[in-house]
Amino acid sequence: MNSTPTVPHHIAIVMDGNGRWAKARHRPRSFGHNAGRKAVRDVVEGCLRQGVQVLTLFAFSSENWQRPQDEVGALMELFLRALDKEVDELHEQGVRLRFIGDLTAFSDALQRRMRAAMTRTAGNDKLHMNVAVNYGGRWDIVQAARRAAAAVARGELRAEDIDEATLGRWMSLAELPPLDLFIRTGGDCRISNFLLWQVAYAELHFTDTLWPDFDQACLQRAIDDYAGRERRFGRTGDQVARTQDPAC
Ligand code: IPE
Ligand code: IPE
Ligand code: MG
Repeated sequence: MNSTPTVPHHIAIVMDGNGRWAKARHRPRSFGHNAGRKAVRDVVEGCLRQGVQVLTLFAFSSENWQRPQDEVGALMELFLRALDKEVDELHEQGVRLRFIGDLTAFSDALQRRMRAAMTRTAGNDKLHMNVAVNYGGRWDIVQAARRAAAAVARGELRAEDIDEATLGRWMSLAELPPLDLFIRTGGDCRISNFLLWQVAYAELHFTDTLWPDFDQACLQRAIDDYAGRERRFGRTGDQVARTQDPAC
């Protein structure tokens, strides 16, 4: 018997492959990033239909600043435009939008729009959508450790009392259901400094599909793959089967 509910509560996606998608069409990389917006809309729709509670998307990593300046500039433009154009619809769909990562690195205009979108959608609960920007899993662990250190310095916490649960409460997304399914498009099988702490017991699904081609059917395949997994969390398969047995 399988211990995995059919639909994951929390899905995270590394939306990779935009550049290669554009290259195959002899277009600039920014064309691929722009095309990726449609995939985001489709996946949001799919999550709403399936009753997924949380969707966390990797839009810009802390390492992506190293890209050519014109590509970074085009991405910032795209984020601004997307915030102007997409938030109305997300709000109507009942999506709560949040940005995770070190937002202070962005322009004032972008930070203002991100905050406005978060405030505007704060009362929605059909789907929690987190967009990771200037995010790195190592940064996340460091900022949690820094908060713990500050609490120790204020005398509110003893260093010896810091455990996984304490630190976990300061990690991004701590207040949301744990990550169940981690998807990466674009064919590479790596985490690229995404949710390092949160990925500990997530199921991993890698697909060659490039992000602009990803759609609800691809999401369904990932969910089906997930539903077939046995999540043991360190226990044996027999133990898992016993906890599933209605007689127990
Ligand atoms: C992911 O697509 C989007 C961002 C990192 C912003 P890429 O731009 O990495 O596309 P590939 O991997 O070069 O094809
Ligand atoms: C990860 O993709 C970051 C995002 C999708 C935002 P990258 O394309 O930056 O990852 P690497 O460099 O191939 O590991
Ligand atoms: Mg890439």
